[in-house]
Amino acid sequence: MKIQVEKTRIEDRQAEALVLYHFKGEKRLLPKTARMDRATRGLITTLLGSGDFKAELFQTSLLYTRGLCRARRILLVGLGWKRQFTIDRWRGAAARGAQILRDLGVRNFATFAVETGLERVSPGMCAQALVEGVLLGLYRFDELKTENRKSSRGIERMSVLEEDESREPAVRKGVHVGEVIAQGVCLARDLVSRPGNLNTPLMMAKIAEAVAGECELSLQVLEEEDAKKEGMGAFLAVAQGSDQPAKFIILRHHGGEGSSKTIALVGKGITFDSGGISIKPADKMDMMKNDMGGAAVVLATMQVVAKLGLPLRLVGILPCAENLPGGRALKPGDVVTSLSGQTIEIISTDAEGRLVLADGLTYALRFKPDAIVDLATLTGACVVALGDRVTGLMGNNQRLKRRIKKSSELTGEKIWELPLWEEYREQIKSDCADMKNVGGRAGGAISAAALLSRFVRKTPWVHLDIAGPVWTEKALPYTPKGATGVGVRLLVQFLRDWTG
Ligand code: BES
Ligand code: MN
Ligand code: ZN
Repeated sequence: MKIQVEKTRIEDRQAEALVLYHFKGEKRLLPKTARMDRATRGLITTLLGSGDFKAELFQTSLLYTRGLCRARRILLVGLGWKRQFTIDRWRGAAARGAQILRDLGVRNFATFAVETGLERVSPGMCAQALVEGVLLGLYRFDELKTENRKSSRGIERMSVLEEDESREPAVRKGVHVGEVIAQGVCLARDLVSRPGNLNTPLMMAKIAEAVAGECELSLQVLEEEDAKKEGMGAFLAVAQGSDQPAKFIILRHHGGEGSSKTIALVGKGITFDSGGISIKPADKMDMMKNDMGGAAVVLATMQVVAKLGLPLRLVGILPCAENLPGGRALKPGDVVTSLSGQTIEIISTDAEGRLVLADGLTYALRFKPDAIVDLATLTGACVVALGDRVTGLMGNNQRLKRRIKKSSELTGEKIWELPLWEEYREQIKSDCADMKNVGGRAGGAISAAALLSRFVRKTPWVHLDIAGPVWTEKALPYTPKGATGVGVRLLVQFLRDWTG
């Protein structure tokens, strides 16, 4: 879809549809909505007067203008109570409008970025959220459907109308940022949606190569032999039961001056998790194609950061492997030596994420990062604790945790901290090795993080467990059913906030 910012007066805009907004219970219309009301001789006030449209959150009403203005239709979208309005509701409203028009077969529409009246939300951010809402709300994973695909061509063009000269540059910038971010989220969604037979570690490497070429990121892919020479015993242990060769992918972005910060992102890249010898029950095992969600988010974030040219050094590490129970597979009771030199006793081969992350985190230390953030669909226990809409956060540094939480408030990706006290380390003590890879059912999300913490040493680090929100079983306001891409917007916001 092409998105453009235009100075055209809304009354003069020719379009298949205009999308306008209204707050519930407000007598006064928003300025542009009011102008369209006058231009159409009270079409909107008549609707409101009828009581048929109360501007409930995401309620919509479609009006035909019958030649009263140059746009053929007006789609009015309710924003709910003004007091309860948030930037995330705004994304949802923008998505709802676009979805309705798409379903009608509309090809182009014009709209505007509302003046939200929210603190901390500039015109640029509002325009960014509008574009995010529209593009993310219209997302579909249909590359594997051969039927009914070409018939719905979708919306081709959206115009964001902004007459105010003083706001226009910020709106233009916001639209650009929103587009780049939405493309990143959609890349992550595509990767997570793709099944394990198509999305192997090799495919992850190929896509990383394409992204690196397109955005001038430097790329290194360690093959299994390289990983062996390095001593990545934990990473390789996971891959050894599969015929798909593992790939340890490293992407780098160098923005700004040499003095800038270095941040490392590490993402769990299990392209399919059968559990290995500790095999999972068949029910819902198909969902384990999304076990590379962390790696997808890291790759997508690298793409966005490079396209936006953020002034920092960013390293993305994607340990990618498939967890299968082949003849050479890792077994319960085995002991592996990680890249850090620490040994790990395998209790369950299904606790494989922490193994690949252990070597990923150790590798990240080579870049002497100021901070490390890892993302992983790590534990079912996190879903039990927080539900499937919330990311679990754990870490070893208050300031870093605070920054991440702050950024999530703007992106609407809910995160909640779980404690990571010393006591939890006891759960992963092993009788025969330095640690074991399972710490029992109690506090399972935390004992997993406790294992990870042993590989970051003193480096400020945050772990995000996205096992729940990586996927949604029902459509959310700007997230259709399926892969959510959760984490991309959060990380980008965090990096933009931190580096100014
Ligand atoms: N990929 C799973 C975690 C997961 C479970 C993600 C459900 C999304 C939904 C992970 O590799 C795993 O299997 N974890 C085990 C750990 C256990 C063996 C200690 C789990 O959560 O059951
Ligand atoms: Mn597993
Ligand atoms: Zn897993």
